[in-house]
Amino acid sequence: MYEQVSHSLLNDIMIELDPTIKGEGLRHFYTRLGANFYSIHSLFCILYGKRDDSREHIQHLVETMARQYLLRPQYLRDSDLAREKDHNWFLSQEWVGMALYADGFAKNLPDLTGRVHYFQELGVNMVHLMPMMQCPRGASDGGYAISDFRQIDARFGTLDDVETLADELRKRNILLTLDVVLNHTSDEHAWAQQARAGDLQHQDYYYIFASREVPDMFEATMPEIFPETSPGNFTWDEAMGKWVMTVFNSYQWDLNYSNPAVFIEMLDIILFWANKGVDILRLDAVAFLWKKIGSICQNEREAHLILQLLKDCCQVSAPGVLFIAEAIVAPVEIIKYFGEDAINAKECEIAYNATFMALLWDAVATKNAKLLTQGVKSLPDKLERATWLNYIRCHDDIGLGFDDNDIRAVGYEPYAHRQFLIDYYTGSYAASPARGLPFGYNNKTGDTRISGSLASLVGLESAMQSDDPQQIDVAIKIILLLHGMTLSFGGIPLLYYGDEIGTLNDKTYLDDPAKANDSRWAHRPRINWDRAELRNTPGSIEYRLFTALKKMISVRKEVTAFADFNNRELLDVGNPHLFVFARFEHLQPSRRVLVVANFDNSPQHLNLEDIGRKAYFRNASVRDLYSGERPAMFKEELVIPPYRFYWLTDQ
Ligand code: GLC
Repeated sequence: MYEQVSHSLLNDIMIELDPTIKGEGLRHFYTRLGANFYSIHSLFCILYGKRDDSREHIQHLVETMARQYLLRPQYLRDSDLAREKDHNWFLSQEWVGMALYADGFAKNLPDLTGRVHYFQELGVNMVHLMPMMQCPRGASDGGYAISDFRQIDARFGTLDDVETLADELRKRNILLTLDVVLNHTSDEHAWAQQARAGDLQHQDYYYIFASREVPDMFEATMPEIFPETSPGNFTWDEAMGKWVMTVFNSYQWDLNYSNPAVFIEMLDIILFWANKGVDILRLDAVAFLWKKIGSICQNEREAHLILQLLKDCCQVSAPGVLFIAEAIVAPVEIIKYFGEDAINAKECEIAYNATFMALLWDAVATKNAKLLTQGVKSLPDKLERATWLNYIRCHDDIGLGFDDNDIRAVGYEPYAHRQFLIDYYTGSYAASPARGLPFGYNNKTGDTRISGSLASLVGLESAMQSDDPQQIDVAIKIILLLHGMTLSFGGIPLLYYGDEIGTLNDKTYLDDPAKANDSRWAHRPRINWDRAELRNTPGSIEYRLFTALKKMISVRKEVTAFADFNNRELLDVGNPHLFVFARFEHLQPSRRVLVVANFDNSPQHLNLEDIGRKAYFRNASVRDLYSGERPAMFKEELVIPPYRFYWLTDQ
């Protein structure tokens, strides 16, 4: 938008631009800057306009964007232009992701580069590498305590290794996703070290207080994130003689985004990684970016404004790069991280669908889809040009973050129901085959989250221990049922490494003092490649899982109705064990796929007449796209075997 105040400021900024900023191809930079500057300026003014030095900072901001644009390699500038033309590219059903630790999936980055063919074998074409930037020895919250955002930790390799990997992935049309940990740094980061040494400018990079007065005011309303290992939200720093805000672990210092210098530093880091060839940046813990006394310090309006400003700036220098919001918060809050707009994502184009994930785990434990259907029904509508990341497991714990109103609506009492789920998954419920572990127990609220690998949580571990082929069969079916949901729901399915071969909990973390008190390490495995080889041995568990998932992925890629254009209709079919939804083609809504899932251990029936058969199927018989089979029908009744899903069409 053209607006006089911001435009005349932009003219002044250009006149005063550092003379070293010159180079080829700034044309596209200028057109994008012109398009976004009104918004950049407005957001900057709301966040920082009251400061005396705000003019200086906005000059610095534009110069940072320009410098990084000039450093952007030509092939990435070309890719930006291609993605501008094909702006819905990331909504396609062709994308399938996998998240992994480079030193768990492989030995290190070079070894990982040699294993890229594995992704192709399975059909994965988006790889999210968990944090690999320099971090302290010992405890580092799995790499989320970063001491240098521009260096790769020696355990993984070097910056050159990342670029080699990025090239290798690009050649194979595989997207690369990396983390940028925006909310905090390690206490070993140079900024923290300088703050510690008494440098006031760097103390202003964090929330640092000489007395308990302000920390106590914050504490009155702030929840605890890691209550067992890091109670409270502030840590006393002996060297500095002051309190530092540390919402996560005591060694993770929260950055102060009310300081524009912090914002510009972090934008520069985002653009640095964008220029290394990263396609998608996962922005960690975005809900926590703004702290306000008297609030829970999550989901504050300013946290959204920071993300909008980051997006606007990134669109100028590296527009082809997408953001993933990692905001594991209440369902109505998650959706806001797309940015509230009519069509486009103004903040992050992609967000973790933590609600769907937790609801799926509810359906597995209860053997019914009541809460799943209710929770999905309550999910607010998503923007058109934004998409979900649908996952079953990831490197973190499972939080039962569904809405209490939804729990009540289906007839459960929220506290008792959550307690049942925790007991079910962590071993206190005798009839449960799950082998999960509690995480983050809070003795003040009774709240607990759940750790454990997909296979261990669905009962594969216990079935293997008792050598029970029937239970093994059930566990495999549940794993495939869950994949069948995330691959068809709408959005990018994100697999978690090891799940494709049924990797069980790994207890070796207990031997490492830096990990022993964090049960999330139970599901951050080192891949046993001898076991992975068994994916080629018919009859093995690895084979049964890998080949089924591989097939599911290849079918998904062919089904255009699975692309994400808000083309899903949830059907309440009156049978609580069934989760049923329709996907229809974006441009041809009459072409539909009916997704039917049975979470129960006995066969269930669905009367197709009841759901308006003709709207879905023109032919008498229907076919499951995944298996190719024509499912059993009794008159109009479709029979869905236990733990089975169908992707039905009439073709
Ligand atoms: C994110 C990460 C989690 C980490 C936390 C703090 O939620 O996914 O693993 O502990 O941020 O950095």
